[in-house]
Order: sequence, then C-alpha cells, then structure tokens
Amino acid sequence: MKIDILSLFPNMFDGFINESIIKRAIDKKLVEINVIDFRKYSKDPHNRVDDYSYGGGAGMVLSCQPIFDCIDAIKTNDSFIILMTPQGVKFNQEIAHDLTNKKHLILICGHYEGFDERIRSLADMEISIGDYVLTGGELPSMVISDSIIRLLEGAINEESHVNDSFNDGLLDYPVYTKPSDFRGMKVPEVLLSGHHENIKKWRYEEQLKRTKERRPDLIKKG
Ligand code: ADE
Repeated sequence: MKIDILSLFPNMFDGFINESIIKRAIDKKLVEINVIDFRKYSKDPHNRVDDYSYGGGAGMVLSCQPIFDCIDAIKTNDSFIILMTPQGVKFNQEIAHDLTNKKHLILICGHYEGFDERIRSLADMEISIGDYVLTGGELPSMVISDSIIRLLEGAINEESHVNDSFNDGLLDYPVYTKPSDFRGMKVPEVLLSGHHENIKKWRYEEQLKRTKERRPDLIKKG
C-alpha cells in the first residue's frame, strides 16, 4: 500500500514515520508513506496557498490551485482520495478495515479556517476522527494511517488484531500480566487455571459486560 499525505507541515510526521510499528511496516515494505508539502505546487509568486474568504469572515481559506495541481501530479487509477474534515463520516474500525483494500490512499490535510469548497470535488470520501475541531488534518491523517497500517498483513502479530476492540462489535476483554497479586489486586482465578474453554467463556462474558456498561450503543447497533 502507498499513502501520500498532503500537508503544509511535513515535520509533524517525523515521529509518526520513524518510530515503532509504523517504522517497521515501512522497513518491511508493507507500506510506503510520502508526506508531500503542497506549498511546492503553488503558482503564487510568494508561494501562498491560502487567501481571504469571499464574503468576509475571520481566518484564511486554502486555495484550490496548489491542491488541485498536486493531486493532478500524483493521482493514478488506483488512488482513493480522502479529505480530513470534521464534517466527514465518523471514522471507525470498520472503515479502517475497508481502507486496507486500497492500493493508494491520498490524504488531504486542511489547515487554517478551512478549504475552498471546490476542493471537496477531489475527494472520494471525507473523514472526521470525532466531534471536535483540531488545528488541521495532520493528526487525523496519522490516526487514520496508523489504524490502517497495523491491520496490514505482517505489521503486527495477527492474533493481536483478531482480538481488537470493535472487531466483533464488542470492546476487548481485560488482560493481566505478572504478578498474580499486586498490592492486593488479584488476577481472576480462571486466568490462572489453564482451562482454555473456561478462559474463552470468561473473556467473552467480560466483553459483553464491558460493552453493555461502557458502550451500550455498540450492542444496540448489533
Ligand atoms: N480537521 C480538523 N478537525 C478534524 C477532525 N475532527 N477530523 C478530521 N479532520 C479534522
């Protein structure tokens, strides 16, 4: 998979790309990530990428030209273009799974007050990572890329994401490691029993209990 991220602040991605599981996925060639500073595509004599809003109002608006030209330069028949915006569909694990089937993702990060409405016409999908407003699409694009990359075959131990929260519409069960008694807080007996059937049953019941308590909306969706 290839992910091209269009951003005016490419340095924001340094830690994301150069650490941990994402770095390993890149090294293993499971994914290629390019962060493209679309200011390079500006035809403005001062390399401007934004301008005042027609009709007035606070803040600057990202202009069409640099983003359209950048997309023209990198888009292929395999590309799927996603715009980061709080007005998009709310991101979830199911969408992350669907996006693992794409060969080439292009993620457009807005910044400042907003982007010219005509930029929407470039996008195959608009995604929001939640009902709050961030300073730009950089963090959302990292959130989305991260959740997709960890699902790519070979990125992490397969079993880890079979058990993920949301995978079966339920939150994950509680897990423990040594010691079995920490400051009087004991690991449930069943997990020490070595009885696999009972452990499986206990885990499923805990998943149901947790989801009912914390996210009853997930059960109703069921
Ligand atoms: N840009 C600013 N806020 C955002 C959000 N919540 N999701 C996606 N893109 C955004």
